[in-house]
Amino acid sequence: MNVIIGANRGIGLAIAEHWHARGDQVLATCRTPSPALTSLGVEVVSGVDVTSDPSIAGLRKAVGERSIDLLVIGAGILNRDGLETLDLASVQDQLEVNAVGPLRVATALRDRLPPGAKLAILTSRMGSIADNTSGGYYGYRMSKAAVNMAAVSLAHDLRRDQVAVTLFHPGYVRTDMTGGAGHIDTDESAATMIAMLDKVTMNESGKFYHQNGEELPW
Ligand SMILES: NC(=O)c1ccc[n+]([C@@H]2O[C@H](COP(=O)([O-])OP(=O)(O)OC[C@H]3O[C@@H](n4cnc5c(N)ncnc54)[C@H](OP(=O)(O)O)[C@@H]3O)[C@@H](O)[C@H]2O)c1
Repeated sequence: MNVIIGANRGIGLAIAEHWHARGDQVLATCRTPSPALTSLGVEVVSGVDVTSDPSIAGLRKAVGERSIDLLVIGAGILNRDGLETLDLASVQDQLEVNAVGPLRVATALRDRLPPGAKLAILTSRMGSIADNTSGGYYGYRMSKAAVNMAAVSLAHDLRRDQVAVTLFHPGYVRTDMTGGAGHIDTDESAATMIAMLDKVTMNESGKFYHQNGEELPW
């Protein structure tokens, strides 16, 4: 079974669609289901907020004794906070959703990841310290850098279970997060990341990839 976290819209929805179209068994989570997700015909678990322990416990219960082959954590938020208008509560919100959230999900579902399973987290190149040439976006950049670090630790720690952990920058994708701006649509982003994830082996565990196949700097 494949699990996608944050599938009611955007890139997560496209990942659910692509997996379903090729015949994979899909469990898709959301906080609130959208018509697009409910009409897809995949198993939907709603009320899943990555910042909430009880809701992630509910997800764990919904998964039951089933094994997860592919787990993609796509839930994320972006607040455009700049230095002059900095709101530290917004920085904390982004850390909670984008960095702590994926770790909460990964640890809750860890026992359902058998040898050969793959965990992918949708991060951003905006979390790359080396790639930060323009500043700003404090909470988003900090949270994505933090989740990158969490994923590398997970890659080390889950190696003993033969579970590969990879980070994907999904491209600059036309979604609500970008206000509809971007270079590619969700279909292309999802299709290319799914193809890459299919090819991931333990040799690629702990790596940070752009959806275009390039390995990104930390
Ligand atoms: N679009 C891009 O160009 C781009 C670039 C780099 C990285 N990314 C990353 O790719 C991922 C998907 O982005 P997107 O563009 O598809 O964004 P999006 O269209 O804004 O969708 C965000 C998704 O995350 C969910 N979410 C937000 N907060 C949540 C929470 N607390 N618990 C559970 N789910 C939550 C949203 O659910 P609700 O509908 O309930 O809010 C929605 O399903 C994010 O991690 C983002 O940072 C996107």
